[in-house]
Amino acid sequence: MAPKIAVFASGSGSNFQALYDAIQAGDLQAELVVMVTDQPQAFVVERANKAGVEALTFSPKTFATKAMYEQAVVEALQQRGVEWLVLAGYMRLVSDVLLHAYPNRIVNIHPSLLPSFPGKDAIEQAVAHGVKVTGVTVHYVDEGMDTGPIIAQRAVLVTEGDVEATAQAIHQVEHALYTEALNQILK
Ligand code: GAR
Repeated sequence: MAPKIAVFASGSGSNFQALYDAIQAGDLQAELVVMVTDQPQAFVVERANKAGVEALTFSPKTFATKAMYEQAVVEALQQRGVEWLVLAGYMRLVSDVLLHAYPNRIVNIHPSLLPSFPGKDAIEQAVAHGVKVTGVTVHYVDEGMDTGPIIAQRAVLVTEGDVEATAQAIHQVEHALYTEALNQILK
């Protein structure tokens, strides 16, 4: 049976869409049971609704602690039999509660060749630094900021001084690489 995954996102959700489309096309062997967001207004919610994927929206600041927020997320995931967490533009550091509930079962995609340019605005950082090559990394999540073991990487040429063009090239690679990397590890 296809492994049950939850996709976590905070923004536009183009990676959510690419994963959903890959599953529909039979290119990714997984069952996308739920989309989890910490940004109830994010465009990814609209994408999930349109796709017919349950959208679970949380407002972390309404919980007294981060642990309580993550505990509520874990309970919702366990109720739905989720086995893997796929972070796709989820802009929040994962902490103990999620890591202990899903050991070695949380993966993330990041728009740089880690360990270069971790954290926010990785594409802007790369363009500002003047590197000629950047890329995409898929990695396991640990308690650090974009620091877990690397699963897959692919290089992308930087368009000098042009964040928009570089971002477009990066997103195109992300949408293919995430499916490839997930097929490798979900077996
Ligand atoms: C993606 O480029 C993803 O790699 C990045 O956020 C973007 C989300 O785009 N993630 C990080 O920077 C994590 N540190 P999307 O909402 O269109 O999928």
